[in-house]
Amino acid sequence: MQKIDLLYKGKAKSAYTTEQADLLVMEYRNDTSAFDGKKLEQLARKGEVNNRFNAFIMEYLSNNGVPTHHVALLSANQSLVKRLQMLPVECVVRNRAAGSICRRLGLEEGKVLEPAVFEFFYKDDSLGDPMINDSHVITFGWATDAQMQEMKALSLRVNELLSQLFDQAGLYLVDYKLEFGLHQDQMVLGDEFSPDGCRLWDKQTLEKMDKDRFRQGLGQVIEYYEEVARRLGVPLN
Ligand SMILES: Nc1ncnc2c1ncn2[C@@H]1O[C@H](COP(=O)(O)OP(=O)(O)OP(=O)(O)O)[C@@H](O)[C@H]1O
Ligand SMILES: [Mg+2]
Repeated sequence: MQKIDLLYKGKAKSAYTTEQADLLVMEYRNDTSAFDGKKLEQLARKGEVNNRFNAFIMEYLSNNGVPTHHVALLSANQSLVKRLQMLPVECVVRNRAAGSICRRLGLEEGKVLEPAVFEFFYKDDSLGDPMINDSHVITFGWATDAQMQEMKALSLRVNELLSQLFDQAGLYLVDYKLEFGLHQDQMVLGDEFSPDGCRLWDKQTLEKMDKDRFRQGLGQVIEYYEEVARRLGVPLN
């Protein structure tokens, strides 16, 4: 599938149109950002690792009944996806406290959250992706009530599937962010699932193996992503 026009260049990926109107080529770049784009670096191999990692996870989810946009891995750093009408909200699921919820609610990092916490955020970098609730989503028309229920249910189904998958690889799935979109009225998981958008801790040592290594300047960011991929059995070449 040939790339035609650059449709959208985000902070980590570029989306290109193809000869088929409802298919996009998603190119994963090495650009790495944190704090709403304030910290920016190029990390060698990141595009390839995240592309392959995401393809593996999306295929696993599709095989287990979660509709995803993933169609095929095209090359080391490109995948073919269904073009979605993205909803401007991010869905976050938390199994343990880390990141913004610790500051917001005064929680100690690592506190087990049972049952898992589900949160919506409004996707807007200039506002710092603020947390929102169901009422905002309805009032501002970002999604319908039924669409919100679907996003919640799918996000929690993903939690059941992936918590177990990562557990078997010796990792805690601490939290993660999902983005959904519509494909002919069907709610479909879009964007990506990679160590850029989730927190993964080693079960034995509680060592961080995700983008917090970049945010916190812990080093060896991609080496750790590759270790996670290796444990899951993601083919890296
Ligand atoms: N299947 C899809 N169809 C259309 N757009 C998609 C699809 N999957 C992801 N996207 C959008 O493409 C962009 C991916 O690029 P990237 O992740 O680099 O963006 P970002 O910088 O994180 O987000 P943004 O620029 O939107 O704040 C995101 O805006 C995402 O919502
Ligand atoms: Mg993104």
